[in-house]
Amino acid sequence: MRILSVVGARPNFMKLAPVDRELVKRGVEHVIVHTGQHYDPGMSDAFFEQLWIPAPDYDLGVGSGSHAQQTAAVMQRLEPVMVELHPDLVLTYGDVNSTVAAALVAAKLQVRVGHVEAGLRSRDWTMPEEINRVVTDRLSDLLFLPSRDAAENLEAEGIPADRMHFVGNVMIDSLCWALPQALAVDAPARFDVRGRSYVVVTLHRPANVDDPAVLRELLEALTRLADHVPVLFPVHPRTRARIGDLRLPTDQGLRLLEPLGYLDMLSLVAKAGLVVTDSGGLQEETSFLGVPCLTVRPNTERPITCTHGTNRLVQAQRDAILAAAERGLARHSPARPVIERWDGKAAERIARVVCDGERFGLDAGPAAQLQREPRRAVAIPQPLAS
Ligand code: UD1
Repeated sequence: MRILSVVGARPNFMKLAPVDRELVKRGVEHVIVHTGQHYDPGMSDAFFEQLWIPAPDYDLGVGSGSHAQQTAAVMQRLEPVMVELHPDLVLTYGDVNSTVAAALVAAKLQVRVGHVEAGLRSRDWTMPEEINRVVTDRLSDLLFLPSRDAAENLEAEGIPADRMHFVGNVMIDSLCWALPQALAVDAPARFDVRGRSYVVVTLHRPANVDDPAVLRELLEALTRLADHVPVLFPVHPRTRARIGDLRLPTDQGLRLLEPLGYLDMLSLVAKAGLVVTDSGGLQEETSFLGVPCLTVRPNTERPITCTHGTNRLVQAQRDAILAAAERGLARHSPARPVIERWDGKAAERIARVVCDGERFGLDAGPAAQLQREPRRAVAIPQPLAS
């Protein structure tokens, strides 16, 4: 069996790693295509190295561009690879532009598509990722769901239940695999915050960083927070450029860092008092680790992290963020939330579906017996305001 995985942007790589390990274990010929959407070493190579992902078999080198340019470039460069290799299945991951481009190319060549992290919905059509999710899911033959609410979203869009497999969360597979190494790396000591309460920040969404007024408001909140507690902010290249445009004074307490590799980031987050972010993955990682998280967005496609985890939505307003941060930092809980099938075995289930034709439905089944938890409706959480 030949399976082709298409990845391109940072959050794809931790989803690919456990799937690659499981497929290779079963003797699958697993071909990895990197689209080149992310190309800085700190955004790409470091993740391949630390997660032990083999070097990509193909690197399409598409780089940055408008959404149409980037998506089209991936499609144009990927099509000949798929024609040449004729894979039995193309696997796509998450919700980035490379994901939707790969699904479109495969579907038009009548190659079966599998979507890892299917069914998440923010219902916010201003986010390019929402468009990517809906289109990719519609084109996919195998939909690998991280949580039960994903099935409700897909059902509402008329996707047949027999395409859905509730496998759990592959991000958490990587986290479980890497956590011992991450703790050994002891990034808090290197950043001189070991044993102290500190805050880790990531912000890169266009809605938060592209509007100078919003970015200014966010930086003001973080600078105020840094008067009381160390605030470490590894900065995405997009955000770095926007902060540069603002020409702010550089002597603030807020610590702006280069993007961190997976192990350093996990090491910092695992011991943080609070995370402030607009990333999808960090909402999940903090929930698994039991670290309070503030997501600076009006909505989330991962509501389970709010209803069952430690995530709270907050508006991009200085006072709202400061008030929520105070509450988050005060919330020390030794108990980690347990979320169904976020157990480090999602990639194994994916491989069992792909290689052995097993089913992981939402009711009784082999996986349902791994963890018993009653089905609960997941409401869409509302952001905190000041
Ligand atoms: C992309 C994903 C987003 C994901 C994020 C993780 C889409 C629509 N968005 O957003 O869902 O959360 O990745 O980081 O696919 N840049 C560099 N070096 C790089 C990559 C990007 O300097 O290696 C800069 C370029 O100026 C580029 C900008 O960042 O134009 C944005 O990159 P792009 O891949 O278009 O989107 P992200 O904001 O990274």
